[in-house]
Amino acid sequence: MILGAILPNNSGDKRTTLHPDSIKPILDMGIDISFESGLCKGINLEDSVLENLGAKATDRQDCIRSSDILFSTSPLGAGEIKIMKKDSFFIGLMDPFTSKAQFEGFSQRGNSAVSMEFIPRITRAQKMDVLSSQSNLAGYVAVIESAKELNLALPMMMTAAGTLKPANIFVIGVGVAGLQAIATAKRLGAKVEAFDTREVVEEQVKSLGAKFVKIDLGATEETTQGYAKELTSEQIQKQKMLQKEVCVRSDIVITTAQIFGRPAPSIIDKETIESMKPGSVIFDMAVESGGNVEGSKINQIVNHKGVKIMGLSNLPSFAANHASFALSNNLINFVLEFYNQEQGNLEVNFEDEIVKSALLVNKGKITNEVFK
Ligand code: NAI
Repeated sequence: MILGAILPNNSGDKRTTLHPDSIKPILDMGIDISFESGLCKGINLEDSVLENLGAKATDRQDCIRSSDILFSTSPLGAGEIKIMKKDSFFIGLMDPFTSKAQFEGFSQRGNSAVSMEFIPRITRAQKMDVLSSQSNLAGYVAVIESAKELNLALPMMMTAAGTLKPANIFVIGVGVAGLQAIATAKRLGAKVEAFDTREVVEEQVKSLGAKFVKIDLGATEETTQGYAKELTSEQIQKQKMLQKEVCVRSDIVITTAQIFGRPAPSIIDKETIESMKPGSVIFDMAVESGGNVEGSKINQIVNHKGVKIMGLSNLPSFAANHASFALSNNLINFVLEFYNQEQGNLEVNFEDEIVKSALLVNKGKITNEVFK
């Protein structure tokens, strides 16, 4: 059995799916590791680091051709799926809602594909949950990058030259990223307020020492996986209106509002932006899925009448080494959970809740209705 790993298609993504600190359990199982040369260059490591642990460097095509299990942080192109080993597994970030062509490719080839984005939000699967491990770091990065653009220090400082007031930070959307953004901002000494449509998060916000902003939007729902359901357009209008005064008094606003599998809701409009203090910063963490903020642009800092709107993408990659360690652990934990050492293969039991959710293509058969 060969487990292979290839570089991301996107050169802006510095992460690797095989971190040297996490591969030992795989080698101990008797699984061979092969990797695309340069795999760890984004985290400043030479091939020799993995080679010294017993893994083998190769070129990309050879890695795809020979692997029984192939790890990747980005979807494969059609030509690459065609050369995959027969009966092999793709395991990684498939970006399944936007990269639909790959499904046809896997279907024709008769191979299997596991989308780590579809790992269910259940306790047993937490160790495989890439959305959480990466969102956590993204929340941290959003605060650090916003702080760099702000012309204020975050903590209160009592100095002989006068008292510097703490910065006010407003976090909208308190999932995994939002919680880490709150925790990071608090550690740096800012005054933090937060809002989410899911009322259950109020306790979590308070436990981090931040203030929960109460905005009554009427009934809001969540899915069995704990994801927020889309608001009606009336509710969105109400939210925009009622959260405006919090934005106006904030120095940094961080938006993380997402709806799984749908475009992100647009919740900050020009009117709110124009009423904020010049020099304030808005960080749109949802910029890659449509954006929460009017006028935000991917990988740009837009200056709108003195307010900086940040739309940086690929945030976990800003902390690429830690992001890779977590990502690599997540993927390896999936393999270890389903690897049958006696038979030397991955055992996919469709009765298993994790397999049922994340295995989007099983031996060429698309299993999830949404992608058929
Ligand atoms: P996400 O990235 O899909 O969304 C981020 C946040 O935006 C969510 O908290 C959502 O409620 C909020 N949101 C959506 N529309 C909004 C709006 N109009 N205004 C303000 N906020 C809005 O969410 P994420 O971080 O992936 O987490 C989703 C859920 O899954 C959370 O309940 C989280 O606690 C839960 N979870 C459970 C795990 C488990 O193992 N049990 C593991 C990880 C997450």
